[in-house]
Formats: sequence, C-alpha cells, structure tokens
Amino acid sequence: MGIGINKVEVKVEDLIPPYFVTEGRDKRESISAMPGIYRLSIDNLIKDIQESRSLGIKAFLLFGVSKKKDAYGTEAYQEDGLVQEAVRTIKKKVTGVTVITDVCLCGYTSHGHCGIIRAQNAKRKTQNVVIDNTETLKVLSKIALSHAQAGADFVAPSAMAKLQVKAIRERLDKSGLKRVKILAYSAKFASNFYGPFRNALDSSPRFGDRKGYQLDFHNPEQAIEEIESDIKEGADIVMVKPALAYLDIIQRAKEKFSIPIAAYNVSAEYAMLKAYCQRTEDRRPRTERDLVLEILTSIKRAGADLIITYYARDVAKWLTH
Ligand code: PBG
Repeated sequence: MGIGINKVEVKVEDLIPPYFVTEGRDKRESISAMPGIYRLSIDNLIKDIQESRSLGIKAFLLFGVSKKKDAYGTEAYQEDGLVQEAVRTIKKKVTGVTVITDVCLCGYTSHGHCGIIRAQNAKRKTQNVVIDNTETLKVLSKIALSHAQAGADFVAPSAMAKLQVKAIRERLDKSGLKRVKILAYSAKFASNFYGPFRNALDSSPRFGDRKGYQLDFHNPEQAIEEIESDIKEGADIVMVKPALAYLDIIQRAKEKFSIPIAAYNVSAEYAMLKAYCQRTEDRRPRTERDLVLEILTSIKRAGADLIITYYARDVAKWLTH
C-alpha cells in the first residue's frame, strides 16, 4: 500500500501560463484581483517568457489586450496586430517554445461578446444574445490564419461558435498551414469564475450575458457532446474550462477520449487563492505553495494532461528551487 507506483505529481512541463499582451513599450500594468499577473508590452513579454523558459516552462498562451474595438473585432486579425507581432517576436528571440494564441472576439468587439451579433439583437441590447454563427466563423478563421501566419504553433478558439474548429482547420489546411494545431476550448462553461480576466481584457459583455453560446453548468452531457464534436472537427487537444468546479467533466473526458485533455484553472480560481493567502493569519512561507500544489494535483488526478494556470511561474520556481 502506498508504494507510490501510481503517484500523481504535477510537473513543470504540464503547466502553461497565460500572458496578456498590451500596446506600447516598457509596460507592466497590474491587474486587480490578480497579484503577480500583468499586462505586458512586447518587450517585457519577451523578458518574462525568457525567464519562464529558463524555469522549464515550454508553452505559453497569449491574449491581446486591445483598445481598438469595433462591432466586428477587425483589429483581431490585422497582420501587424498585437498578438501577431508578439508571436513573431517570440519566435525570433526565444527558441524551443510552443506558442498558443487565443482566438476570440470578446477583447476586440465594442459590445464585448465573443462573436458577431445580429444587428437587430445589438440594437435592442437584449439579454439573450444570439451570435451570427456564419459571420463569426468567417472572422474566427481570419484571426486563426493571421496568428498561424505569424508563427503560432497552436491556435485556441474560445468563442464557442458552432463548428469553429472545423472552419479553422479547413482555413489553415487550405493555406498550407497543416503544421499548426488546434487547442479547442471545447467544454467552456458560462461560468462566474471569469471576472478578473474580463477586467484584465476589458472584455465584459456591455449588455446581456454569454449563456447563449457558453455551456450551462447544469448540463454535463452537453459538455461531453461538445468535446466529441470538436474532436471530430479536428481538434488536437480539447479543453475543459474552468477547472476546479468541473473536475468531474475532466475525468469523464479523460475516460472517454484518447486525445490530450487540457484544463484551464481560470482567473477567479487564482484570485480566490491569492486573496486567502494574502489575508490569512496562516502566513507560513509554504502555505501558498502547498495549497497550489494540492489544487493542481487534483486537476491532474482528474485527468488533465495540461493545465493552463496563472500559477505556472510560481510553481516552476517552487519545483526547481
Ligand atoms: C473568452 C475567454 C474567457 C476567458 C478566456 N477567454 C471567458 C469569458 O470572458 O467568457 C477566461 C479566462 C479566465 O478567467 O482566466 N474568450
């Protein structure tokens, strides 16, 4: 008993830190509720990525923080856009890293939704926001293509538009970019745990909510179906998001499917723990480390092969020092 043959241990290689890229130079803006996480201009991003790389982290997830917003998210697919430029610079300056880019519209649309909204819907500012799926697929494919052309290794569609993986796969293949893989946000729930992230990106919906396109957390079957269809559409890795309140979904996905499963340990999951560790009387130096490793181990134990977490750099430091 307990001889440790099946011991589950989190490794640095399992972890992927998200990065927020912002315009300008020498920028390092703090994000409320997320101590230790910043919006970085490309020069500082490169420094941080180099440091993360030397700690053993090999893959990174990039989000663009844009002030240029319009109804169609046109800034998201510009060749000289922020994310595109960041990818090119990373690929030029840092070797041996896997660059993953988030493909979505919410950070680039004036209404803050993840897709193109039907005109009558936008005018009435209704609660039940309906995405124009066909138009959204066109824009998502353009974004993915622009990231791939800049050198991204993986694109990660997170808009929850129907058939987004298929549309992106076809577009990449047609453009000679078969080498670029897809990390699909397949089981992405309409969760209450995204607050600090939306604050970081200024991407909160200006009206209505995301329940029309993100999944209902009362309905686990739907999540499994979404994962299954993304795999059929060509996803190379599928993701469950958030992680902690959805360990059952991660486990079911792991049991049912054979491709790698990623879990996104999202912003409010990070913020909750940070808040506790900053306020508690329990200020032993190892408290935060022990809590984080216990939590990340639960996510891995549930079946996640990869964990996207704002704690990635801290864990890499704890495990290597
Ligand atoms: C949407 C997106 C979200 C997150 C990443 N991409 C959620 C949302 O705003 O609906 C959340 C990540 C986090 O909370 O850390 N494209």
